[in-house]
Order: sequence, then C-alpha cells, then structure tokens
Amino acid sequence: MPLDRDTLWYKDAVIYQVHVRTFHDSNGDGIGDFRGLQSKLDYLQQLGITAIWLMPFFPSPLRDDGYDIADYHSVHSSYGSLEDFENFLGAAHDRGIRVIIELVANHTSDQHPWFQESRSSTDNPRRDWYVWSDTDTLYKETRIIFLDTEKSNWAWDPVSKAFYWHRFFSHQPDLNYDNPAVREQMWQVMNFWLQMGVDGFRLDAVPYLVEREGTNCENLPETHQVLKDLRRRLDENFPGRMLLAEANQWPADLRPYFGNEDEFHMAFHFPLMPRMFMGLKLEDRKPITEILQQTPEIPPSCQWSLFLRNHDELTLEMVTDMERDYMYDSYAASKTMRLNLGIRRRLAPLLSNDRRRIELMNGMLMSLPGTPIIYYGDEIGMGDNINLGDRNGVRTPMQWNGETNAGFSTAPSERLYAPLIQDPVYGFPAVNVLRQKTAEHSLFNWMQRIIAVRKSSAIFGRGSIEFLYPANHRILAYVRKLGNDAILIVNNLSSTAQAVELDLKRYKGNILIEMFGKNMFPRVGDLPYLLTMGPYQFFWFRLRRV
Ligand code: GLC
Ligand code: CA
Repeated sequence: MPLDRDTLWYKDAVIYQVHVRTFHDSNGDGIGDFRGLQSKLDYLQQLGITAIWLMPFFPSPLRDDGYDIADYHSVHSSYGSLEDFENFLGAAHDRGIRVIIELVANHTSDQHPWFQESRSSTDNPRRDWYVWSDTDTLYKETRIIFLDTEKSNWAWDPVSKAFYWHRFFSHQPDLNYDNPAVREQMWQVMNFWLQMGVDGFRLDAVPYLVEREGTNCENLPETHQVLKDLRRRLDENFPGRMLLAEANQWPADLRPYFGNEDEFHMAFHFPLMPRMFMGLKLEDRKPITEILQQTPEIPPSCQWSLFLRNHDELTLEMVTDMERDYMYDSYAASKTMRLNLGIRRRLAPLLSNDRRRIELMNGMLMSLPGTPIIYYGDEIGMGDNINLGDRNGVRTPMQWNGETNAGFSTAPSERLYAPLIQDPVYGFPAVNVLRQKTAEHSLFNWMQRIIAVRKSSAIFGRGSIEFLYPANHRILAYVRKLGNDAILIVNNLSSTAQAVELDLKRYKGNILIEMFGKNMFPRVGDLPYLLTMGPYQFFWFRLRRV
C-alpha cells in the first residue's frame, strides 16, 4: 500500500503513539528496539492506524526517558542503529504508514556536548547556546512544571559558577533561542531527519523557547517567530511534511500556534482531553460543549490532534482548581496516582476497566473534530503500575501473548527495562494481543472496527461540527458535515438508559443509517427525532436524502 500523496494526509490520519523501547525486543537484551518495532508493523497495519508517532530514540542518559537528548543525529544504541531506523522507516512507508518523530527543541541533556562546552568557560563559543545568569532571580513569573521534583527553574552549575535556566528537570538545560546559531542548528537537525524521509515532527514543549523579563515566558511573540522560521524552511524544502505542537495551553493561547497557516499544521487539544473525562463522570455534556465553543476556528489546512492518554500524566494544567479537585476525587482517589498537576494512569484503569465507557470515550475520540491519537496498549486495555516512579507506570512492555515476558522479549524477566504488568485483571496472561485477536468481541477487534468505520468517511477528519442541544443534557449530540454529506453522532454520557429528542428539522426526509451495522433507522419527519439509548451507548448515523 503506497503512501497517500495528499499533502493534508494528517487530517485523515489515525496516529499510534509508541516508544520503541516498549514495543518489541528483537535481540533479547530486555529493551525494545527498531528491529522489534519493524517486526510488529503488520500488527499496526491490521489495527488500521495510518501514522506512528515515536517518542525520542536518540542517544541520551535516559533520565527523562529520552526527552533529555545528548545527540540529535543518531539512535540510542539500545534501540539499534541509524540503519535500523531507516529500514524501519522504509518498511512503515511500504505499508502506507507515516512516521512522526520527536523534536525536543527547547532543551538538551546536560550531557550534550553543546552544554559541556557551554559550561566549560564563559568565553567558550557555545557559552551563549544556553541561558546563563549570575543570579537566580530573573523571570520570576515563570511557573514550575515538574512541581514534584523541581523547586526553581534555575540551577547552579558548579563548573562554571553560574545559574542556568531549565523549564523541566534540572538536568535538561534550556537552549537559548535568542542565539541565531541555535536556531540554525535546530533547522539542521530537522533537515537531517527530513532528508531521511520522516513525515513530521512532534515539537516538544514549544511554548517555552524564548524568555523575557516581566512575562511568564510562555507563548511569547519571539517564540512564535522562531517556530514560523522553521515552518518556512520546512515548506520551502519539504512540502507535505507536518509539524505538531505540544503546547499545553488554553484554546485562546493555542490558536496562535497555527498562525496564518504559517506555523504548525497540528496542535494537541490539551483543554478538551480532561473535559471528556469530566463530562463522563458528571454524566453531563457541558464541560465538552463549553470548551469546544471556546475553541477558536483554525485555518483550513490546520488540524487539532485529539487524545485520551499519552506517555505523560493525564495533565490537569488546563482546568480550574475546582475542576482539578473533582478530577482527582473521581479518577485518582489514591495520592500515589497523582503526579505534578496530573494523574499517572492508563485509560482502562481510569475507566475501571468498564468496556462500555472505554468504547464511548474512544467513540468521542474518533468523532470529535481532529485527528485521533491512540496510545500504545490502550487498544487492548492495558493496565498501569503505580509502583514504578515518575511516569514509568504507563510505559511498561507491550503485552503480545500470555507466554514468557508476554512475548515482548526473550531476556530473563529481571533484565526487562521495566517489569510487565502482572496483576490478575490487567496482567499479560489476561490482557494480550494474541488472546484478543482470537476473541471475536475483544477490545482489539472493536478498535479495529471503529478505526475502519472512521476511515470510511472523510467527514471525521475534515468536516465541520455543529452541536445539537437536546433538553436531556446527558446526551452529547453533534452533526459533522462536509460538502453535501453529514453524519449525526449521539453519545449517552450516562450510566443509565436515556431517551432523547433531537431537533433534526433541517434534515427532514433523510433516513439515518447506523454506520457500524449499516442498518436503517426511521426517516426524519416533522416531530423531534426520538432515540432511546442504553448506558454509555453511542450512535454514528449517516444522514441520507432519499
Ligand atoms: C514533554 C514530554 C514529557 C517530557 C517533557 C520534557 O512534556 O511530553 O514527557 O518529560 O516534555 O521534555
Ligand atoms: Ca533489544
């Protein structure tokens, strides 16, 4: 299957997020690698995803799982070689699967040679590549992100006897984007991987590139300018490649990252994600409709990317204090489940392994406007391990079968980079790919189906949205439209059966065709359209004029 040549491919994509170390170990050292990942491409193709987003796989001391990069132009030796990466990329492309990699531009590891040079003396040519100061009092209005580990955004460097700026761990010094050499270098990094054929980048932590006194040092115009310059060079040299912004910000602050179609193609919708969980818990559509109403329009070639879970804690930065308390009470009763401003759990445990709620949340993920991202393992309902520190509890090895090491690796179990999930409910003997492939009604088979149904219509990735506001507020209903085609989506957020009357006057005379079974529902007449729905049920209907 060749790659789809449309330059807007990311609008129709279904993205699968995976870390190479977690997926499959080909050489028995206990760590997943590119050859292992490549050997599982058939699986991903069967699932139906069209793009892979890889977490950082570059040389790194791995003190932030690779988000602490020590060399941007190579592959961590545990994961294989550059050649292994290229083979993997080619094999993915042969299957029509695109590959998005990480560009961690804001900071490097303190082990990176640039930082080693920078700290070595105040007149080193690379001194100005990082943000140095004699005091730790600048930029006081800047929040701390890793609240549970860091006390300040400044760290003292005993080698050069000065403070350096870092928005994340203190071993991740921020690069200085006021320095043109740094900006040029980042483009060279992009160029290196683009030449090799990668299809896009997820740009990590983009709001924090530039610092200015008297601001909170986020989303500054100077930062947007850096990003626009990168985009311009991308368009000039590699049309059809894609930039995805990780900007954990409110909708109004997110909008500028799309610019005038001259900055990012895509950005994660961070504020929507926790509100989907909130709406479900409250059994009320309001958190979802409210945030989407507050979401500005984005230019035609731009796209939101939607997700339920990822490799980080479920972030509660983009909610109010009251909402955060509610989320903690609802989804992280035990304090060990909390991390920084978030919840370090996977999708299935968050939803108490309730298949109906897992399906409903995925149904919304796949039908709200944007491109969905599935976090590896969530397609089989994997669990987490809160006994592992930091965010490692949601990064355990993929569970392929019920045999030794879940089929992930042939290494002695003690040598795995992280222990497998073992508990009776989520452990690999119960939850694994092999078992789910053979069980007709498994979550895997259901996920495969919903992905296929989504891919059967361009409306999901490209259409507009219009909410219906039925009196029953436990029902979230919307019409997606593209040209003359329309799809009606109705979600019951409640744990009990509900009836709903939808105002479909404008579609009078249409019949409804349920998209999973292709069954006909009654024609829309003069009266409000009545539906009855079971707990957490949802419908996707094509509206068809006859
Ligand atoms: C992003 C990543 C996170 C990482 C941080 C620092 O937020 O998602 O995993 O720790 O950046 O690079
Ligand atoms: Ca390995």
